[in-house]
Amino acid sequence: MDFVRVLVVGVFISLALRDGSAEQVMGLPPCDFPAIYNFGDSNSDTGGISAAFLPIQAPYGVNFFRKPAGRDSDGRLIIDFIAEHLGLPYLSAYLDSIGTNYHHGANFATGGSTIRRQNETIFENGISPFSLDIQTVHYDQFKARTSELYKQAKDPADRSKLPRPPQYFSRALYTFDIGQNDLAAGFRKLSDAQLQAAMPDIVNQLASAVTHLYQRGARAFWIHNTGPIGCLPVATLYIRNPNPGFLDQYGCIKGQNDKAIEFNRQLKARVIKLRAELPQAALTYVDVYAAKYTLISNTKNQGFTDPLKICCGRHDNNINVWCGQRAIVNGSDVYGDTCAYPSTYVSWDGVHYTQAANQWVANHILNGSLSDPPIPITHACHKRLRM
Ligand SMILES: *[C@@H]1O[C@H](CO)[C@@H](O)[C@H](O)[C@H]1NC(C)=O
Ligand SMILES: *[C@@H]1O[C@H](CO)[C@@H](O)[C@H](O)[C@H]1NC(C)=O
Ligand SMILES: *[C@@H]1O[C@H](CO)[C@@H](O)[C@H](O)[C@H]1NC(C)=O
Repeated sequence: MDFVRVLVVGVFISLALRDGSAEQVMGLPPCDFPAIYNFGDSNSDTGGISAAFLPIQAPYGVNFFRKPAGRDSDGRLIIDFIAEHLGLPYLSAYLDSIGTNYHHGANFATGGSTIRRQNETIFENGISPFSLDIQTVHYDQFKARTSELYKQAKDPADRSKLPRPPQYFSRALYTFDIGQNDLAAGFRKLSDAQLQAAMPDIVNQLASAVTHLYQRGARAFWIHNTGPIGCLPVATLYIRNPNPGFLDQYGCIKGQNDKAIEFNRQLKARVIKLRAELPQAALTYVDVYAAKYTLISNTKNQGFTDPLKICCGRHDNNINVWCGQRAIVNGSDVYGDTCAYPSTYVSWDGVHYTQAANQWVANHILNGSLSDPPIPITHACHKRLRM
């Protein structure tokens, strides 16, 4: 029986590789990923920066976890919907030492992370000290130390919170969502030409992280591109009387989105090149930009309100009281509270998406329709020969 199954699977695989079409890959069994290892910034941080620095406060987390849950949203992030979709638990943050379980993976993302080191502290512009190169060092340390602990453990209960080496590393899905803060730092510190000139280095450092993990046995990579950063309300909040053409028809800063598009163009080209450099890797490039921009440009049809409106916090009369903060305005105490209907907002706090928007985006990327190659995440371990 086993022989027959092996034979059938073998036939499927050779067909898939010869033909190279997404349909053939779909004929293969789902990957059955035992674990997820995630690298990124606040778009996918499930508790890292909150544990390492100042805890994220209420009302963050209120619409799902019913309490702050280390996430910059009112509920789940895209990475949480990915975990759900793959039948895995939500990822514990590597930097969190309390109540964590790493059996099915770990999250190395931290809010404020960049691909490149920024030479800034978190107290200046919120830049995390855990840039992507440090996140991969954390991964190495995590892998070495959990593997050792796993081998030493006498009691099965001691192993139940650790990944099983080596399969839970080699067969895991490695996810990336990072780059947005490199652009934000670029807008802040570099000229347009300098940021343009830095772009290949930023993209190369992301490719280096992928290569680093590949050399240590990782094979399946799911790489998000960066979102329309110029559509974040925080970007447009302070703009008064913009010149014609500065904003697009949805109120997003066009020049900033153009930089994100350029980053994504170079990232996609680099991922295609990586396929040649890392012959055994299955690399999926995911157009998160398209998903987010499609939502922003279709909010009315999709049951959302004006995409530049901020749910949590108070932003009127030139007063900005950010989500969860308090301020004295005209002698009275003002609290940056949540809006009444968070599920109709795209932006939770001016920088981060609501759970409802994250779910919408996840629904549009998980089935592979915005991926290169167009393979659903359940099949993202299968490599295609010809693209
Ligand atoms: C940070 O500082 C180092 C050493 O001065 C420099 O090589 C590097 O380019 C800087 N990084 C950025 C992103 O500015
Ligand atoms: C504060 O009070 C002044 C004077 O009454 C008023 O003009 C201004 O709009 C008030 N600001 C806010 C944010 O309510
Ligand atoms: C993927 O999901 C989105 C959202 O549900 C849907 O609009 C799209 O048609 C789907 N694409 C495929 C290829 O299934």
